[in-house]
Amino acid sequence: MSTKLEPTLIVIFGATGDLAHRKILPALYEMAVEGQVPEQTLILGVGRNKGKSDAAFRQDVNQSIEKSGVSDADAITKWCDTRIFYQGIGKGTREEFSKLHAKITSLEKKHKLNGNRIFHLAIPPEGFGPTIKSLGVSELNKSLGWTRLVIEKPFGRDLQSARELNDLIHKYFEEKQVYRIDHYLGKETVQNLLAFRFGNSLFESVWNREKIEKVEIIVAEELGIESRADYYEKSGALRDMVQNHLTQLLTLTAMEIPLAFQSDDLRFEKVKVLRSIAPIRAEDVVFGQYTEGEIGGNGVRGYRQEEGVRSDSTTPTFVALKMRVENWRWHGVPFYLKTGKRLKDRMSEIVVTFRCPPVALFKSSEGKGTQPNVLVIAIQPNEGFRISFQVKQPGPEMAVQSEWMHFSYSEAFGPIPEAYHTLLLDVMRGDQTLFVSADETLASWQLYTPVLHAHRAVHPYPAGSWGPKEAEKM
Ligand code: BG6
Repeated sequence: MSTKLEPTLIVIFGATGDLAHRKILPALYEMAVEGQVPEQTLILGVGRNKGKSDAAFRQDVNQSIEKSGVSDADAITKWCDTRIFYQGIGKGTREEFSKLHAKITSLEKKHKLNGNRIFHLAIPPEGFGPTIKSLGVSELNKSLGWTRLVIEKPFGRDLQSARELNDLIHKYFEEKQVYRIDHYLGKETVQNLLAFRFGNSLFESVWNREKIEKVEIIVAEELGIESRADYYEKSGALRDMVQNHLTQLLTLTAMEIPLAFQSDDLRFEKVKVLRSIAPIRAEDVVFGQYTEGEIGGNGVRGYRQEEGVRSDSTTPTFVALKMRVENWRWHGVPFYLKTGKRLKDRMSEIVVTFRCPPVALFKSSEGKGTQPNVLVIAIQPNEGFRISFQVKQPGPEMAVQSEWMHFSYSEAFGPIPEAYHTLLLDVMRGDQTLFVSADETLASWQLYTPVLHAHRAVHPYPAGSWGPKEAEKM
């Protein structure tokens, strides 16, 4: 595989931050030791701290890779010492970007790279605009090789800001150079949705309003906001999870069959789904915010008591929505999306409930009446899927009960790759299939911006529950 990829300089903005150290750098190391990227590939970490040296940064990277579970200390040190560099850019003035330009060109020259550059923006969202502009003004986007821009979420705060960000990006980069990350698309189980739907003929003929009663997409987290109050207060659950991760799950579940498994065809179909969703009605949205409670037997504080959160904050940490996908396939089938922090369990699932048989021939041994077939696609944990069937309970009586058929990723394949590994490799390959297009960002914000701007109650729910009772009613 390495022969197909070209040596590249990967410039990570936000290189001293949490995302770079927890996900990006360990994934790049893994790709290197597995021989998936050319050996000459270099990484230049860029951070605000101008006092940090290459050596100090290498030490931090070394520790982060060890923390990620890799134990080969010599190999890590060797990789860090030869492949990793650092440049501090303080406030990112024009002069500082000129210095960055000089460092990049000198590294490329010294290591005989041909100018292929990846700029990865792993910085807080307010930094996206200024950094993209500085890349353009300092002409770092122009080189003898290709340049690619990787941008983390959240992409914009609403329709207007997403439009402005796209316009700014397109001033300096063509859309084919842009890789908007939604790490859910890098998850094997999310990609498997495509394999499941379009690699099997079994389900396609029943994947519609004739046979499906409802679809539920749930991403529940036990975690709270950790130390991210500053970001989360400005974001909330709709921007943080629904507009991106849950919407990706929705579009992949609802989309039509693409012409081919390639970037343009796939992304086109996803945008079509978003455009066919009816405006979300006020009565179809429930917001919530966690209060003090208990998780796994331990007491946890409420959102308003978290460090850095205003004591009268109305930022939602929970959202439940009902969506109507108004096209021929889905008219009349409700799609329920639900996500929240500090819920009872960590669990991400897509639950597809099929319609019950039109006539109940058999008694249900569970006394629940006729039960529908249910398909549960488990994104995480216990990755895999299960489907329920009605089976005859042994005995003289003709009574049926629900039983499950399972597929487990870990049983079939063992450990599965990390999302970032897959995504970063795709950036190096130049494959945009698992990245979000400009059109998709706009279509998605078009849908959610009115929900954000409407004033709605935020219902309290105790940490460790399944969310506010108002959501259950929905
Ligand atoms: C991030 C959100 O994008 O996704 C976090 O900002 C959230 O708030 C995380 O916890 C969830 O990702 P995963 O992969 O743990 O489901």
